[in-house]
Amino acid sequence: MAIKVGTVFNYLQLPNVSKFPFVINKRQDGILIQKGLFVYTKSNEGFLIGLIEEIILLNEYFTDALTIKAYNNSYNPNIIKGLFPSKDFEFAIAIVKCLGLIKFKDENSKEIDRVQRMTYPASPGDGVFIVEEEILFKFLGFNSEYGLDIGHVKIINSSAKISMNRLLNKHFAILSISGGGKSYLTSILIEELLSRKENFGTPAIILFDVHGEYIYLKDIPELKDKIKIQDISYFQIGVPELSAYSFKKYQEQISHVQVRELSKYIKKLKRDKDKKNQYSLKDIIEQIENESDGNRSTKQALLGWLSELERLTLFGSQENPILEKVLNKQEITIFNFQKEISIRKKQIIVDYICNRLFYLRRINRIPPFLLIVEEAHQFCPEAAHSKAISKPIIETIAREGRKFMACLCLISQRPKKLSTTALSQCNSKLVLSIKNPYDLKHLMDSSEAITKEYASMISSLGVGEMLLMGNAVNYPVFIDVRQRKFKSRSEEITLAQFCLNWQKKELN
Ligand SMILES: Nc1ncnc2c1ncn2[C@@H]1O[C@H](COP(=O)(O)OP(=O)(O)OP(=O)(O)O)[C@@H](O)[C@H]1O
Ligand SMILES: [Mg+2]
Repeated sequence: MAIKVGTVFNYLQLPNVSKFPFVINKRQDGILIQKGLFVYTKSNEGFLIGLIEEIILLNEYFTDALTIKAYNNSYNPNIIKGLFPSKDFEFAIAIVKCLGLIKFKDENSKEIDRVQRMTYPASPGDGVFIVEEEILFKFLGFNSEYGLDIGHVKIINSSAKISMNRLLNKHFAILSISGGGKSYLTSILIEELLSRKENFGTPAIILFDVHGEYIYLKDIPELKDKIKIQDISYFQIGVPELSAYSFKKYQEQISHVQVRELSKYIKKLKRDKDKKNQYSLKDIIEQIENESDGNRSTKQALLGWLSELERLTLFGSQENPILEKVLNKQEITIFNFQKEISIRKKQIIVDYICNRLFYLRRINRIPPFLLIVEEAHQFCPEAAHSKAISKPIIETIAREGRKFMACLCLISQRPKKLSTTALSQCNSKLVLSIKNPYDLKHLMDSSEAITKEYASMISSLGVGEMLLMGNAVNYPVFIDVRQRKFKSRSEEITLAQFCLNWQKKELN
């Protein structure tokens, strides 16, 4: 049965098409009317649904300065209160932001046919009711059967099960300050994706784990078969996969003349039957050194550039791991960058993996995938801040990936430092707490759905609270993120405990 919570009335210039005010009934059935609650009224056009945006307390008795003076000056205010029940003059009103008109399939069903924009205000005098959970679920665009369960809708406690198709269809970003809960939320999404029933269909997942925060997943018995960890200390770029031009990407100063020269040497190596198309950077260097023809200074310059690259110990005769074989549907491959400190080396690896995966996906040799990039501002920064070798490919996947079922998830604690091109392609945004005004402004610039009100609410979110907006839901909604099902061991260890353990390790 519908629960009535108030009555529409005239207040200031309202109701208009986008907002209506209502007087809140005195508390009943323990229902607390709060900001963020979804309510509806039956307007001339139909079932008008809205969100309580503000609650105002009014008391006619205290609007007059003279009355307040008398009240304060009286010897005992309780006597005045007794004589004049000022509390009875208090009433609460709520301002509701209209979201849409629901059209049902038929009179008695709760099946939503479509949601329309409203063109006429709510009528003063009409009742206001709480939206039932079942209707709200459909209205927001959640998917009760196949959805990813990430927590509860704030205030109403209805579970938030976002549709995987809608979330992954157009890329998404997870943003917050450091410690806001981005990695925690990502691990919940991973839990949900890996635990889906097989016949629901789930893409492969690749994750660039910059700090080794996801390695704990391998210790979880329920998931461990679906988890592959690749330590990037053993990572090798397959030199035969690279054209002479791609070396220019790694060493910008290589001139076009030198690239042309380099491509001659590479061609020779490719023709060498003994090598069977397996040659490393060392082989190219030897080839140049042993070659008697050619301009000496060009050769010297090339040798200089290539030797510098060789020092990175990244370029082998075959890629390792073989990316075409690593990916499987509903499995996650975690590239662990924990031990690597060179940002250039990390960017080269990310660039190579992204390029190869996107190429393999385009020719349909690997399953559809979700690529999660932690600390995305390091790999795809805004031009004004710094350059990154991996930026063009991440932007390309952001622009074109959707057509090839390659989905991107960018995670960052500094949205302002993240490429605007990439961020604006992330249609769904999972925003946890952000305090920095520059970051908030950047977010508002990249998404018109984030209004000033939302921006101020984002800055006051606590750990584990988030705003979900964009393609994944029909309307922006605040969610309490659930706890992890599978806990990491380090999560339960306090700093003090860690120090004690460390001491013991030292003694042994
Ligand atoms: N939904 C949640 N429920 C319970 N605890 C949470 C939740 N979200 C975050 N936390 C707590 O907050 C801590 C920090 O979260 P997390 O490591 O995900 O932050 P982060 O945003 O990834 O930070 P950084 O940007 O520094 O990587 C977690 O270790 C966890 O204890
Ligand atoms: Mg993190």
